[in-house]
Amino acid sequence: MNISRCLSLFVTLFIFTSSLPAQVFESKTFENGMVVSADKYASEIGNEILKQGGNAVDAAVAVQFALAVTLPRAGNIGGGGFMVIHLANGETAALDFREKAPTKATRDMYLRNGEFKSELSWEGILAVGVPGTVDGMIKALERYGKMPLDMVIQPAIKLAREGYVLSYSHAESLNDHRDTFRKYQASARYFTTGDTTLFSEGDLFVQKDLAGTLERIARFGREGFYAGPVADAIINEMERYKGLISYKDLYNYESKWRDLVEVDFRDYKLHIMPPPSSGSIAIAQILKMIQDYPIKEMGHNSAEYVHLLSEAMRRAFADRSFYLGDPDFVDIPLQRLLSQEYNTERMASFSPDKATASSSLSHGEIAGHPESDETTHFSIVDNEGNAVAVTTTLNGSFGSHVSVSGAGFLLNNEMDDFSAQPGEPNTYGLIGAEANAIEPGKRMLSSMSPAIVTKNGKVDMVIGAAGGPRIITATLQSFLNRALFDMRAQQATTFPRFHHQWLPDTIFIDDFGLSPDTQKLLEEKGHFIFPMPGIGRAHNIYIETDGSLSSGVDPRGDGYAAGH
Ligand code: GLY
Repeated sequence: MNISRCLSLFVTLFIFTSSLPAQVFESKTFENGMVVSADKYASEIGNEILKQGGNAVDAAVAVQFALAVTLPRAGNIGGGGFMVIHLANGETAALDFREKAPTKATRDMYLRNGEFKSELSWEGILAVGVPGTVDGMIKALERYGKMPLDMVIQPAIKLAREGYVLSYSHAESLNDHRDTFRKYQASARYFTTGDTTLFSEGDLFVQKDLAGTLERIARFGREGFYAGPVADAIINEMERYKGLISYKDLYNYESKWRDLVEVDFRDYKLHIMPPPSSGSIAIAQILKMIQDYPIKEMGHNSAEYVHLLSEAMRRAFADRSFYLGDPDFVDIPLQRLLSQEYNTERMASFSPDKATASSSLSHGEIAGHPESDETTHFSIVDNEGNAVAVTTTLNGSFGSHVSVSGAGFLLNNEMDDFSAQPGEPNTYGLIGAEANAIEPGKRMLSSMSPAIVTKNGKVDMVIGAAGGPRIITATLQSFLNRALFDMRAQQATTFPRFHHQWLPDTIFIDDFGLSPDTQKLLEEKGHFIFPMPGIGRAHNIYIETDGSLSSGVDPRGDGYAAGH
């Protein structure tokens, strides 16, 4: 594989999707409820729902719909995601509202004259998977919410109809994508100024068509999205640009309750979103690989610590690439992947002195497709102790860039998360695995890893992140920083992170995240180090021993904690 090609792709993806200035945050502490999300409006809406007597699931649904208005690059109704729930009574649940491949999708749909055209799975109508968010939110609310749907959607409708004030980073992100929006009629109308001027911080951003769609959902439930005028509008877009999604695909879409992956580590139990999220398996494997080493004694982010964790990450990501896909389509050897015996065996080749070459590991010839940074995570705890972790996405920043005319929302480009051409190198020189090959109705593999951590049966952390594959390693470090090093909430979220994903054979570090002498020690072991402007963006809540809630808002983004 061409490593410089891959590294430049990483950096391009990052710069393209993240122009957020680093900020310094103080942790906030509240007693009765808290919402931490990527956006101030959305966090405040969630907190209001909690104050009005809604529970954490009511607030989560309100936040998801609010983000569809105020964070159009990742918040969505045209995408999908995962929700992890831990109720105060100990009941847990995992909801998969990931997009699905349309029925007409084929394994080779991105090949032209035998050549993989990666741009087709990344931008435009063929990149779109059948959206899952609306069905997911309604299903979550029906099973666990206390409030009616129209009540939790109202704040989002108001924001869409009356407008909200663009922040600097929101204005910039819209401006950065204006050339691509201009290629698609409805997106040009909704997401550019319509002339040569740019959006500015302080502009009022009104989305009347989106308000209409949200009103239909509030009134008719899932029928308001997957049937009727909104479905007609989606199908019109498919016809306009020759897309694959049919009425039947929309109407038949169903989100799915799944069994959580649970993993014990020291005094903690992690409850993590199972496949088609790859994060649970990878995090569980990494924890099992490192647990017998004197991790704490190595010291946080010492060369020894970074080396050990990177070697475990390398091995877990190699397995991810080969074994993981939609569990409804592929037989994932879960028991073995999660067994201590298997993971101890995986570390048999670990040397404390020397990096293992990725090419020397099994499945070393196979790699996953690089994933976008642009996803968003939020964490919620209510006054009864119910907790919800949600990660949601359009995949790339603003997804496919195709908007639904008359309905006011963007469609995802989630098809890019499939291995578009199994067994053959793609445009990036990478090779994907069969388990994640495109099939009609299949869900594409994800890195989104919403997780709730309990200690003695009580919720201790609600964690998760945005950042493509870095979601997995950022979430892991949000946990370890607290569990091993007793960091305070904001420290645990802020401290420099690192990431290894097997291929490219590189440790990515937060810019200025490791001292030069630590880097030198790692290089002497044979590691290649590559600094980047941020390893994931985490939005965490940590529960203190007195029961109060402390926020961990990632300074790598412009998130916000609201509580009471
Ligand atoms: N689209 C990013 C992910 O699902 O991991």
